[in-house]
Amino acid sequence: MRYQGKAKKLYETDDPDILWVEYTDQATAGNGAKKANIEGKARLNNRITTVIFSLLARRGIPSHFIRSISDTEQLNRRLDMFPLEIVMRNRVAGSFAQRYGVAEGTALKQPVLEFFYKSDPLDDPFINRDDILALGLATEQDLDIIAAKTREINGALTGIFRAINVELVDFKIEMGKTGSGIILLGDEITPDTCRLWAIGNNNDSHVTHLDKDIFRRDLGSIIPAYQTILDGLTELEERE
Ligand code: C5P
Repeated sequence: MRYQGKAKKLYETDDPDILWVEYTDQATAGNGAKKANIEGKARLNNRITTVIFSLLARRGIPSHFIRSISDTEQLNRRLDMFPLEIVMRNRVAGSFAQRYGVAEGTALKQPVLEFFYKSDPLDDPFINRDDILALGLATEQDLDIIAAKTREINGALTGIFRAINVELVDFKIEMGKTGSGIILLGDEITPDTCRLWAIGNNNDSHVTHLDKDIFRRDLGSIIPAYQTILDGLTELEERE
């Protein structure tokens, strides 16, 4: 084992460029302050991220994903990760709503790209472009590529989710560099890392959450919501 994350375990393989990734049933919120074991989550997230990476590849957006090898495991290309959480927002929610005192659900005049510094002891603080450059976490050129790729991923993902009647409110991705210096999308894209709202029956007092906010806000079990997302995406993949 090379690394144990909050929802995944990463193992080395005989090939130094390939990692074996095992999804786990663990759910955490508030940087680990809240924890639970949710049976079935590993399988759903492994499958959801597999379908999403495949749909993105079809749209010309490559990632570290190689192939799924079991219900809960997949092979990924090893990347040297930037210590950054890259967040893109299409509508106000979560920490953005709190930071600026704007109601969740408010429309944004344009999508917002944000960075957070990945650090458990510091609770992943907000970080700006100058901070990143000054600390040497990425170069100017890296950040330009990361920003362009993230906007492209946002466009593709928004379309993918709209096709299954779901609004992509915001999401977090991570990127890293291959041995030859190519910047690639890594980590996962699942309802753990996106805010997904059912389209059609939302109003000021009611949103149908299909993502980890169900767990964060004690709104019930995440399993039926994650299954809805997987079923929709699987159907879309077969249809295309
Ligand atoms: O909490 P916040 O509003 O900043 O989250 C923005 C997006 O990033 C949400 O979709 C959330 O699920 C995701 N996120 C994540 N991992 C974190 C923090 C946020 O996937 N550690």
